[in-house]
Amino acid sequence: MTDRPGIAAAARAIVLAAAPSEKIERSFETAKAWGAGDLILEPRAIAMPDTPGRPATPELRLPTEMPRRSSGAAGRIAMLHAVAHIEFNAINLAWDLIGRFGPEANDRDLIDDWVRVGAEEARHFQMIQTRLQALGSDYGALPAHDGLWEAASATADNLLARLAVVPLVLEARGLDMGPQMATKLQSAGDEESAALLRRIHEDEIGHVAAGMRAFQRLCAKSGQAPETTYRQIVQLHFKQGLKPPFNEAARSAAGLLPHFYLNA
Ligand SMILES: [Fe+2]
Ligand SMILES: [Fe+2]
Repeated sequence: MTDRPGIAAAARAIVLAAAPSEKIERSFETAKAWGAGDLILEPRAIAMPDTPGRPATPELRLPTEMPRRSSGAAGRIAMLHAVAHIEFNAINLAWDLIGRFGPEANDRDLIDDWVRVGAEEARHFQMIQTRLQALGSDYGALPAHDGLWEAASATADNLLARLAVVPLVLEARGLDMGPQMATKLQSAGDEESAALLRRIHEDEIGHVAAGMRAFQRLCAKSGQAPETTYRQIVQLHFKQGLKPPFNEAARSAAGLLPHFYLNA
């Protein structure tokens, strides 16, 4: 027997952490400990929280109640704040996948990939928060979109669905949007923010690629056809279908090919 602590328990602690600084620090520490072999993969699932820990602000609002985006500097800050909120949620999503599905899936590649994703999301959040602070704002200064956790709740009992919905729809959507946002910031003269979004975009290609690998591995294991399975899950969770325009180059670089998502 070993008395090394477990990765799922560490993931749970990250999801529960309310302060962004604690979520970030724990993400980095856990990734380091996993890489060093200091954590075991628990043999049995552990109970994961229904809702992740979060700070008192930002105030969460329904999409319909979000203030209209202003232009100029305030508009750029609002855009970066929205990205920070997405990255904050992405930290929770990465570690929730490990805690919720890791022990049962018993797939080292899956854990290795998602530990890296979790640490990268923490770094993304940290980069954007630092940028917001440099611009005289901060994460929490503006209201944020409620409902980002819905994707997690809706797929809490099915790893294949979680992979289809989170990396292969939502993060793939991020690949479509990221370069557009970077271009907007660039043309507004905010080179620094544009560079951050481009760097995040490069990492996000890796997240979608990890999602694709895991999805295909899991389908092969259960004898399901990946493309059909993906389409069925997408139709179940996104009634209106997937919205173009698609960044085909970035999606293909991640191994997510058009025949998967076109007309899905
Ligand atoms: Fe990210
Ligand atoms: Fe990501």
